[in-house]
Amino acid sequence: MTLRNRFNIWLTGLIERRKKKRFLAGLASAGRNIHLCRGYSISSPNKLSIGSNTWIGENLFAKCEGGLIIGNGVIISRGVEIWTANHNYDSEDLKSLPYDRRFILKPVNIGDNVWIGSRVTIIPGVSIGEGAVIGAGAVVTHDIPPLAVAGGNPAKVIKYRNQEVYEKLKSEKRIYLDIEYDYDVSTLRKSEYLKKYGK
Ligand SMILES: CC(C)(COP(=O)(O)OP(=O)(O)OC[C@H]1O[C@@H](n2cnc3c(N)ncnc32)[C@H](O)[C@@H]1OP(=O)(O)O)[C@@H](O)C(=O)NCCC(=O)NCCS
Repeated sequence: MTLRNRFNIWLTGLIERRKKKRFLAGLASAGRNIHLCRGYSISSPNKLSIGSNTWIGENLFAKCEGGLIIGNGVIISRGVEIWTANHNYDSEDLKSLPYDRRFILKPVNIGDNVWIGSRVTIIPGVSIGEGAVIGAGAVVTHDIPPLAVAGGNPAKVIKYRNQEVYEKLKSEKRIYLDIEYDYDVSTLRKSEYLKKYGK
């Protein structure tokens, strides 16, 4: 690889990390070790909280006006859409069609250690309980209980995780992204992290 190519790769990485750092600084709150993959489109980031050891897959589309909380240890696959506001389309005093300028805000809450499969859509107002799994392609229109495995449109509970195994791993702090990455990938390269924290 030529020196020029190496320089370009280094520069692209630097720009990308700076962009992420700025983005994370603008959130309502951000934990450590947040993997934010490319292609995200996130509105009102000041209404978004992301916990530690989280993975936000490619092309996340999230409208956060109504408030979005993503817990610790959450893994979101690619192409997921999260909505926290509906257009006002059905009130007595509706001003225009199909909807008017007003929005109905409904927060979305994603509990700790939830795994969301690819191309899931989450509708405003939904809470996904701790440890739940949402199958690929699901449209989540109602709350999902903790430890449930849910799928389909509208998403329905298919089964439940093994609670005993879940609680044991939780008590031992066996969180996948914490184990896989021993440095904070949110903003730093491993070498920078080691230099700063000597971990
Ligand atoms: C939800 C999921 C984890 C369940 O996997 P599993 O435990 O192996 O489940 P099974 O394949 O045994 O399926 C159990 C039942 O759920 C149904 N089901 C499985 N996944 C489903 C989905 N995404 N939507 C709707 N129903 C689903 C199956 O059809 C089956 O129904 P049946 O009992 O009537 O035949 C898996 O199907 C899935 O969607 N994985 C996500 C893949 C993905 O997005 N990966 C990204 C990597 S980050």
